[in-house]
Amino acid sequence: MIQVEHLSHRFTWGNYEKHLFNDFSFSLPKGKALVLIGESGSGKTTLLKMLCGLQQFDKGELYIDGNNVRKLAINIAEKVNLSYLPQRVSDYFLEQSVEKEFLLSGLLEDANIQSILNDFNIKSLLNKHFNELSGGEIQRVACASFFASNSDLLLCDEPAAYLDKINLDLLKNRMQYELENGKTILITTGNNASNPWPFRHLELLNR
Ligand SMILES: Nc1ncnc2c1ncn2[C@@H]1O[C@H](COP(=O)(O)OP(=O)(O)O)[C@@H](O)[C@H]1O
Ligand SMILES: [Mg+2]
Repeated sequence: MIQVEHLSHRFTWGNYEKHLFNDFSFSLPKGKALVLIGESGSGKTTLLKMLCGLQQFDKGELYIDGNNVRKLAINIAEKVNLSYLPQRVSDYFLEQSVEKEFLLSGLLEDANIQSILNDFNIKSLLNKHFNELSGGEIQRVACASFFASNSDLLLCDEPAAYLDKINLDLLKNRMQYELENGKTILITTGNNASNPWPFRHLELLNR
């Protein structure tokens, strides 16, 4: 369960200031999915980072499963069971090979991980280094790694952005499967016209 209550934030740099969210509130019950739609710069990435404890905020409160995110601070992932799929996934892979990424997430032999590797067609990529992968392949590996962590709360920042139709369908099927298995899902997407997700949605205003 996510609760966002009266959230507002202002970024300043030099003479420039950017106001985000403007007293924004919503809640996402456990076991449901929600899509946040907003144009570039509306604060989608910032909001997901706030929920992960990676970005401070000025006003309002955020709760995950009743825990106040301000109080969880930096150890948030240890205290609430969440996974974050960042928008720029290539920044987050530090390991040498794809296989190592999955060894970190869990056992490669685990049945759930095997099914994820199959779903995202990763098996042929396991021995490769990340710098040998195409953008789309990196995105598939990132999706697979994200689901392999088997968290209750899934935060995904524009996961559809770099996927072709086939891989987007793989991701949509997996999201549906996760939802049927009780996961809570928050997804962002760039604009309403290209929103591929069949879930409740909310629009973030850019002001
Ligand atoms: N750390 C930061 N310092 C200053 N401005 C920032 C920072 N992070 C984001 N912003 C600004 O906040 C706005 C929202 O950014 P972002 O959340 O990345 O938007 P979106 O993901 O919806 O495209 C942008 O105008 C961006 O430049
Ligand atoms: Mg973004």
